[in-house]
Amino acid sequence: MGSMPPSLFSSLPEVAKDEVFSLMAQYHADTDPNRVNLGAGVYCCDEGKSWPLRVVGQVEKNLHELQDIGRHDYLAIEGDPRFLAVARDLLFSSAFESEDDLRRSTDSRIVSVQTISGTGANHIGARFLAENLRPRRVWLSNPTWANHHAIWESVGVPVREYPYYNKDSRTLDFDAMIATLEREAQSEDVIVLHACAHNPTGIDPSHDQWMAIAELCQRKQLFPFFDSAYQGFASGSPVQDAWAVCHFYGLQPPVEMCVAQSFSKNFGLYGQRAGAFHLVMNDPSYAARDTVLANLSHLIRSEYSVSPRYGSTIIKTVLESKSLSKEWLADLKTISGRIKSMRAALYDELCRLKTPGSWVHIVDQIGMFSYTGLSATEVEILRKQFHIYMLSSGRISVAGRE
Ligand SMILES: Cc1ncc(COP(=O)(O)O)c(C=O)c1O
Repeated sequence: MGSMPPSLFSSLPEVAKDEVFSLMAQYHADTDPNRVNLGAGVYCCDEGKSWPLRVVGQVEKNLHELQDIGRHDYLAIEGDPRFLAVARDLLFSSAFESEDDLRRSTDSRIVSVQTISGTGANHIGARFLAENLRPRRVWLSNPTWANHHAIWESVGVPVREYPYYNKDSRTLDFDAMIATLEREAQSEDVIVLHACAHNPTGIDPSHDQWMAIAELCQRKQLFPFFDSAYQGFASGSPVQDAWAVCHFYGLQPPVEMCVAQSFSKNFGLYGQRAGAFHLVMNDPSYAARDTVLANLSHLIRSEYSVSPRYGSTIIKTVLESKSLSKEWLADLKTISGRIKSMRAALYDELCRLKTPGSWVHIVDQIGMFSYTGLSATEVEILRKQFHIYMLSSGRISVAGRE
């Protein structure tokens, strides 16, 4: 064999590995019997194992028995319309008094497409806005889900950060958030907001604070981009967890906005990649909606053509049925209740051990994560000496795995 010609790819720039996934790989390579994985955002049950939702297992069994001959067919580019209708109603329905109101309003203002879960919805939304709104910048909370940075950088929109977390008090830095946005945000900037269970801090604005954020967005004409990855998972009530989205949706005069919706956590369908992107427009005409839908479909076609159908079929089956929806709500209560009791157990144990410092934030925070306040050095000691894996920011998944 002759000598190998040089590769065109040998001198690519180094790229940092994704912290969550590389931590998971380190955890799997660790053979210590007492290893604990608190890094990944996956809910685990008392035995420290994954917990497929009971209602999901039941629907899977029924679907398998049905052997629908179309079960492996392509979906439409924009997705399964019945899945999109229930996904949309899950988010927006509590904004309206009556079913009729809901149907009329959602039909005329919201354009929805199916996506590769929440990450895909964030990405398609970012691409769509980058190309069609052309914002001067996007505002992300400091800190935020690390992928928000990667997604917005990939579509070439300059990222700015608004203060969110006060390290000293371990609370929301609301005054600094508002002051920064008042001073520096400009009309048609995008602002990314976590609909509930802020990742990584587990701290959400109060209703009054959400109202003030909404008023600011309205007055300064910022474009709200909600990321909804934990609806129902935070409080146990999907309606309560959609409060902020519905408040913005019901504003008068109306604001245009969008929502990236994930079903990874609230249906435990992490690997099935079910999600949706919803754009709320101020033009209720069918012509405008059709054009937006055509533009979104054009983006999707060149990226992944169509979404997977397994997860969305399960979600559609549950949410279209009153009795299965009830069972889903019961599963959500089990999950959110157990997370709350794990928080309380951790807090009690820290107090019992007279661990220096205040730990009340552990029980005050909401959702699957706790921002412990541990430093990167402390996190490293826990990993190296005790085989406990968590993000260097000190974020832990409260219901992690053995
Ligand atoms: C804030 C936030 N947005 C979006 C997602 C998207 O997750 P997925 O793509 O698995 O639906 C996550 C998952 O961890 C998240 O925490």
